Amino acid sequence: VEAVAARHRARRLGLHLVLLLATAGCGPLASVEFVHGVASGDPTADSVILWTRATPVDEGTRTPRQPRAVHWLVATDPQLHNTVAQGEYTPDASRDYTVKVDVTGLQPGTTYYYRFDETEIAGNHSPIGRTRTLPRADAQRLRLAVVACTAHAAGYFNSYAHIAQRADLDAVVHLGDYIYEYGHTRFDIPFGRTPQPLHDAVSLDDYRQRYAQYRSDPDLQQAHRQHPFIAMWDDHEFADNFWNGGARNHRSRDGSFAARRLVAGRAYAEWMPIRESRTTRGIPSLYRSLSFGTLLDLVLLDARIEDRDEASPETRDDPSTSPIGETQERWLMNELSDSQARGTRWRFMMSQIIFGQIEVPDFPMHVVLWEGYPRVRTRILDHLVDEDIGDVVVVSSDLHAAAAIELARDPFSPDYDPESGEGVIAAELVANSMTAPHAQDFVDADGPAVVAATHPHFKYLDTENRGYLLIDVDAERVQGEWYASETIRRRRVEHHLDRAFRIRAGDPRLEPVEAASAPRAEGPPLAP
Ligand SMILES: [Fe+2]
Repeated sequence: VEAVAARHRARRLGLHLVLLLATAGCGPLASVEFVHGVASGDPTADSVILWTRATPVDEGTRTPRQPRAVHWLVATDPQLHNTVAQGEYTPDASRDYTVKVDVTGLQPGTTYYYRFDETEIAGNHSPIGRTRTLPRADAQRLRLAVVACTAHAAGYFNSYAHIAQRADLDAVVHLGDYIYEYGHTRFDIPFGRTPQPLHDAVSLDDYRQRYAQYRSDPDLQQAHRQHPFIAMWDDHEFADNFWNGGARNHRSRDGSFAARRLVAGRAYAEWMPIRESRTTRGIPSLYRSLSFGTLLDLVLLDARIEDRDEASPETRDDPSTSPIGETQERWLMNELSDSQARGTRWRFMMSQIIFGQIEVPDFPMHVVLWEGYPRVRTRILDHLVDEDIGDVVVVSSDLHAAAAIELARDPFSPDYDPESGEGVIAAELVANSMTAPHAQDFVDADGPAVVAATHPHFKYLDTENRGYLLIDVDAERVQGEWYASETIRRRRVEHHLDRAFRIRAGDPRLEPVEAASAPRAEGPPLAP
């Protein structure tokens, strides 16, 4: 055993010498710390992405050294006795010392536990994480938490803490605005959660610092540690109101817009547990679909970054002005048709921005939401009707409000009957913002009151609370439950159920329900 250990040490030493030569001028390898927690994401039936950051102990000094290699392991038990996969990863400065591993060969619908260790120092390891692969054929029931608009400076991440306590979730879906690029002047900051850096994030180093700050939050760390994330970016991971040629929050003094797009996308790829399968003009292409066996297909749209045309009142009737572009639209139509043809029970179309019709005088919905691209929206709804694609639920966010909407071709016309539900094609569940405040101009324009009085297809609209959406899925129905944080002004995990709606298979109407769905009794233990 001694000889084998010595040989291993020698081999490791050899590897490190090679690394030393590769990083000429540096001293011996640096020890590492795991101060940004662990994360996992983009599960499939047999693989999952694991993430951590191996921070070199001398980071920030004048001559930081190359960090030591990190060992990772995956086990079936929280004590990590029954190891099923392991390996090594050498972090470096080019990816900001982040570690990303795509673990393959796993079993479907199974909970796993994992950890990262420094190879040289016994006991120097990350917290234990917990993750779960997607089911293959036999899923009876699924539970997903949906979060969005998680602005660190705007309040405490109590919803992340609440989600971290749930042992029976299959995954957390983050619909974007994971970080906000805003500097300290953009938020009313009564909690000392001052953005780092202080100014708007513009450079690669700015965005990296901002992710590092968010990942230092204990509640966000816990949510990542306990559940795999399925993440889609929105505009604030780049700049407010982004489109493919600019952004509202990109001014000439911010330099090149193309360069900012590249560095923001790169920092996201480094820090988020996403699988980097394809790229578009230098950054990950994130629209994708995930299959939860025969129960659910999750189709994630990127209506913000990939190929979004600028919207304006003048382009509203132009059928070629799109938030998703031609290629992604073709892909979406095929995904929906294929899912129906496979006989999958439910199709969730995930969109960062609200899909349903919303018109408030004096509030420019058309520059932000699908409201700015009504021709594309109608094409998608027509596709569902023409191809007889049923059991579709749109899940969206970014209104900084909670809402439940019945989707009809024109909900303001007699073709839609809010009483009988005639004309309803699909339902939409809008996840609340976790902390970001709702748009003041929306409220100043009496938006909530206007919507309540004039939008019969809105069955629910809540602009008061902050929180998250839980979706419980089985073969008979989809149930959406909006959980509201008691406060975001201090750390406090308590939430209450604000509202719940059900959509029955074969019937797209929204039906209010009183009680929350029962937790799954057999939820695998949380990571210790
Ligand atoms: Fe947002």
